[in-house]
Amino acid sequence: MGTSPYRILLIGSGGRESAFAWKISQSPKLETLYILPGNAGTQAFGTNVAISEMDFEAIGEFVLEHSIHMVIVGPEAPLVKGIHDYFLEQEQLKAIPVIGPKKDGAALEGSKDFSKQFMQRHNIPTAWYQTFSKETLAEGLRFLETLKPPYVLKADGLAAGKGVVIPATLSEAKSELTEMLAHAKFGDASAKVVIEEFLKGIELSVFVLTDGTSYKILPAAKDYKRIGERDTGPNTGGMGAVSPVPFASPEFLQKVEERIVKPTINGLVQEGINYKGFIFIGLMNVAGEPFVIEYNCRMGDPETEAVIPRIKSDLLDLFEGVASGSLSSRTFEVDERFVSAVMLVAGGYPGEYEKGKVIEGLENVKDSMLFHSGTRPDGKRTVTNGGRVIAVTSYGKTMQEALQKSFSSAEMIKYEGKYYRKDIGTDLLTNQDKNHG
Ligand code: AMP
Ligand code: GLY
Repeated sequence: MGTSPYRILLIGSGGRESAFAWKISQSPKLETLYILPGNAGTQAFGTNVAISEMDFEAIGEFVLEHSIHMVIVGPEAPLVKGIHDYFLEQEQLKAIPVIGPKKDGAALEGSKDFSKQFMQRHNIPTAWYQTFSKETLAEGLRFLETLKPPYVLKADGLAAGKGVVIPATLSEAKSELTEMLAHAKFGDASAKVVIEEFLKGIELSVFVLTDGTSYKILPAAKDYKRIGERDTGPNTGGMGAVSPVPFASPEFLQKVEERIVKPTINGLVQEGINYKGFIFIGLMNVAGEPFVIEYNCRMGDPETEAVIPRIKSDLLDLFEGVASGSLSSRTFEVDERFVSAVMLVAGGYPGEYEKGKVIEGLENVKDSMLFHSGTRPDGKRTVTNGGRVIAVTSYGKTMQEALQKSFSSAEMIKYEGKYYRKDIGTDLLTNQDKNHG
C-alpha cells in the first residue's frame, strides 16, 4: 500500500475530529481532506461534506465519486453499527482501508457485558461483576445485597453516555435496577445490566493505536467529566482534559502496558478479532494498581484535543501503518510539553440548552488552538450548534502555563450563555507549579 498523496475522508463532527483534521492537514502525505459532516472549525483544514455519519450507503457513494484512499472514523456509533463491515461487504469498497474496528471489535464499547467477559477471559484487572436480564431481575436484586455501597449499574448497550448510574444506597440501587431491566429505562440498551463493585481511586485515560497485532501507546490524559467545579453536578461528555497526567508515573504506565494493553491486544488476536484503530482504555488507579473501567472503540473527547497535539509524528503515516499492518515500523514521537484543553459549553448543558448563538472573538485568540465541537457556519458568522462548543487547547512548558493560556483565551471568546470550568487541571498542579505560577 504505497498510495501517497492521500485523499482522506474523516467521519465525525466533534472536537475530536477537529483535532484529527488539524493534525492530518499537516501531513506531507495528504492531498485532500474531507470531513463528514464536520463543523464550522473543520473547514479550516479541509472540505465539509453534508452527509450523515450513519448513512453508510451515501458515504460509500461519496468515497467512490471522490476516489478516497482511506476512511478514518471518529465516533463510536457508526463503528458499533458496522461501517467497517459495510465497506468490506461491498465489492467496490472493500479495498479501501477503514481506520476503526469492525463490529466484532467495536463490541468492546457496544456491549459492557461482552467487554467484561473479554477482560475475565484474558485476566485483565477490572471490577468484580455479574450481568442480569429481565428474567434474572430477582437474582440481580439479591446480588446487590451482597455488595457494599455505592453500587455501580451499567446498561449493557450504548446509551449516549448516560447508561452508568452509581446509587449511594441499596434501596436506590434496587429501584434503579428494576427501572433498567423491567421498565427498559434505556430502551434496548438496558435489556442487560452489568452490576459491578465500586472502585475507589483516581481516573485516567490511556489510548492505544493498533494494526491488529502491534500497537503504539499514546500519551495518557485526564478528563473532567462533571459540569461543576471541584467535580460536582451532573456528568457531561467531558469539560476539559490535560496531558500528561502527573500521577501516571512510568512505573504505573508500565503496569498498564504489561497487565492491560498486551493482554488486550493478544486477546483480540486469540479471539480472531482483527482490530484496526484506536482503543480507549478508561482506567482507575487504585492505590497505584490499574483497573479497567471501560473500553471504547475510539479516541476520547475532549482527551483527543489534549493528546493529538502531543504526537510529533505524522498521523497519516501511522494510519498507513495501521491499514497495512506495518505499524511497528512507523516512528512515533511524543512532544514533552504539557497540553491543556478547556471546553467551552452552552448555558444549560448537559441539560437543555439553546443553539444558534453567535460566537465572537475567535480571531483574537493567539496563544491557543481552537478545536470546534458544536459549531456551524452561518454565512460569514460562526454560531453554536451543540452543548460542547469549542475546546481551547494550549501548550506549556508546565501544566500551569498551558492552563493559564487556555483560560485567558477562553475569556476572549464570547457568546450568550458561555460556560467553562475554571478548575480544569488545577487538582494536578504540584506545589512547585503553584509557587512558580
Ligand atoms: P463508564 O461509562 O463505564 O466510563 O462509566 C462512567 C463513569 O462511572 C466512569 O467514568 C467512572 O467515573 C464511573 N465508574 C464506572 N465504573 C466504576 C466502578 N466500577 N467504580 C467506580 N466508578 C465507576
Ligand atoms: N471523554 C470521555 C469520552 O470520550 O468518552
